[in-house]
Amino acid sequence: MNRSYSRFVQRLGGRGAGAWAIHGRALAARAAGQDVVVMSVGDPEFDTPAVVGNAAATAIAAGDTHYTDMRGREALRSLIAGRHRARTGQSVNADNVVVVPGAQAGLFCASMCLGNPGDDVVTTDPVYTTYEATLRASGANVVTVPLDASRHFRLDVGRLVSAVGDTTRAIFLANPNNPTGTVLAEDDMHAIVDAARRHDAWIVADEVYAEQVFDAPFLHFASLADARDRLVTVSSLSKSHAMTGWRLGWMVVPSDMAAHLENMMLAMLYGMPGFVQAAAFAALNECEADVARMREAYRRRRDLVLARLAGCDAIACVRPDAGMFMLLDVSATGLAGGEFAARLFDEQGVSVLDAAAFGEGGSGYVRISFAGADERLEEGCRRILDFVGSLGSDASRAALR
Ligand SMILES: Cc1ncc(COP(=O)(O)O)c(C=O)c1O
Repeated sequence: MNRSYSRFVQRLGGRGAGAWAIHGRALAARAAGQDVVVMSVGDPEFDTPAVVGNAAATAIAAGDTHYTDMRGREALRSLIAGRHRARTGQSVNADNVVVVPGAQAGLFCASMCLGNPGDDVVTTDPVYTTYEATLRASGANVVTVPLDASRHFRLDVGRLVSAVGDTTRAIFLANPNNPTGTVLAEDDMHAIVDAARRHDAWIVADEVYAEQVFDAPFLHFASLADARDRLVTVSSLSKSHAMTGWRLGWMVVPSDMAAHLENMMLAMLYGMPGFVQAAAFAALNECEADVARMREAYRRRRDLVLARLAGCDAIACVRPDAGMFMLLDVSATGLAGGEFAARLFDEQGVSVLDAAAFGEGGSGYVRISFAGADERLEEGCRRILDFVGSLGSDASRAALR
């Protein structure tokens, strides 16, 4: 048989899909009982708050295990809409909300709902690894705007504005960004909205780290009145509530787009599990203190990693404003990011990602996650320093260059 596959699935391969190999090796080594420090993934080590699990268990016991509404249950959508209104001032209700299995699915749905072959979609480089495949899925061309390392990866908004033109269908932005941990400045957001309006493009704002902003002023795109008629906000409980495995996210969209998304959900999913929605309801209603506690822990962990690695001349940390990731410039070690990550894992059992997986702009950097427990981070930093120390004179010479 000629086992050929669709052009659609061919578009899903690429850099992002291969980036996780080292993480897979780390998980396998850990499962085999080896002493590895996993700093390659943004999965909170916190347990999901107990009230969330209890709500799911109660729902299961009550038989909430059947098909549900395509868009998500009205009560949950109203709760999400109310929370979004309170945070942004955007006047939305349950009709503007579609519940999806994680922000990742929300990004995919946005891509498929907005993009056509031949359109351009604009995003940054670096950006979260899945973006490339997700945006290409629709057949659109992905136009990337480099984030300049010399500006600590802060957006040069002029470059983004000049990348937006009449063929631009949408601008997809992770704000806060993964892997850089930066947040967009308000003036830059206004400039982005102006460019989107001029060229009649959508803005897709991925705000999964919005609850984990430490010390920078943060604004939702939905707070900008001019953005609202062309705005898709994507978010989830994964990071804020330590609920990555529950796969609960949402999209806040104009109501005509919600109707299209309902058709997509019908074709793809046939509704989110009722007990997961019950859990989400509890998470959004009862866990504000947990969210704040976890945010403070991430802030402390960011500062811990910065302090531990500060004395190492061969590594420069890019201080993140938000999220659970940090970029380390390892170019002074003389190793490329991929080589650094591979040797660090082989020699010290610490898994980090080659930041080139997030785009060309990540070359020379690795991304570490500070989602793990404090002791593991301490241990991970110790091993990173040992590893860099073991590179010996080569690294020292390179560091002096
Ligand atoms: C920027 C960004 N967007 C989306 C996601 C996906 O999140 P979810 O678990 O809600 O699908 C991630 C996960 O790491 C992320 O970093």
